[in-house]
Amino acid sequence: MSDLIKKAIFPAAGLGTRFLPATKASPKEMLPIVDKPMIQYGVEEAISCKINEIVIITGKHKRNIEDHFDYAFELEAKLKKSGKKNLINEINRLSKVKIAYIRQGYALGLGHAISCAKPFVNNEPFAVILSDDIIDTGDTLLKDMVALYKKLRSPILALESVPVSEIHRYGVIGGVKEWDGVYRINELVEKPSAETAPSDLAIIGRYILTPDIFEILERSRPGKGGEIQLTDAIATLLKQRPVYGYLFKGKRYDAGDKLGYLKATVDFALKNPELSGQFSAYLMEVAKKLKH
Ligand code: UTP
Repeated sequence: MSDLIKKAIFPAAGLGTRFLPATKASPKEMLPIVDKPMIQYGVEEAISCKINEIVIITGKHKRNIEDHFDYAFELEAKLKKSGKKNLINEINRLSKVKIAYIRQGYALGLGHAISCAKPFVNNEPFAVILSDDIIDTGDTLLKDMVALYKKLRSPILALESVPVSEIHRYGVIGGVKEWDGVYRINELVEKPSAETAPSDLAIIGRYILTPDIFEILERSRPGKGGEIQLTDAIATLLKQRPVYGYLFKGKRYDAGDKLGYLKATVDFALKNPELSGQFSAYLMEVAKKLKH
């Protein structure tokens, strides 16, 4: 069967207020987790699912995202001279990926950011990747969602079971379990209180959507926080067609939040062959001090 999902949208035009002042003049998506910017993990994940056409929604102060994925001639020449060939491969590895950039003039919300990508998507289903949700490199969330889409041919949202104390930070679903890990969604609420949440199943940053979402987004009015919310648009879509949720049981880092970012950094550093030995020794020293 041909690959149905060929395109991915990376919304990266948000203001990143939780990381101010670091994000005042440079994008949150370029903050590194060890030695790669957050957004590169997402792009590599898309490519691993054979999604090779990428659009990044950018805004003010986001130009270095474009530079990052561009061919670095000057740097290449310098590295050649100093005999660092392995680094040349590393810096230019992704420069052949087709990446388009669309500018969201005002940060009017995630739903609005997605709607900016309409001319790129045409009439095809597509993935949405929020690059500050980092999926552990061994996990296959998006791959599993793409496989599920081939079967269901309906929008699919990645879900995670979250503690009650965190539920107010997420879009939350109500639904019926169709089979293990797959829910048919019948309700969606953006950032509910613990009392009003329809379940503990929160939407996380991977979606497979169908182009009928664009018409709904175009008609959408600002919702919570004065933003055009993707969750509200999907809630309308629910009335027109089945929408499914796929429960992710692997490891996700909410790296758009300082604590999640630190956890991702520590775990990825511990997996890095160049760092793990010395870094784990250092962490043990720190842990010893904390015990006293
Ligand atoms: P977030 O709410 O996590 O990101 O949006 P933010 O707004 O940049 O950060 P905070 O909350 O102020 O700290 C989820 C994703 O949607 C994108 C963001 O870049 C992020 O990847 N987004 C959000 C847009 O592209 N445009 C928007 O108008 C809003």
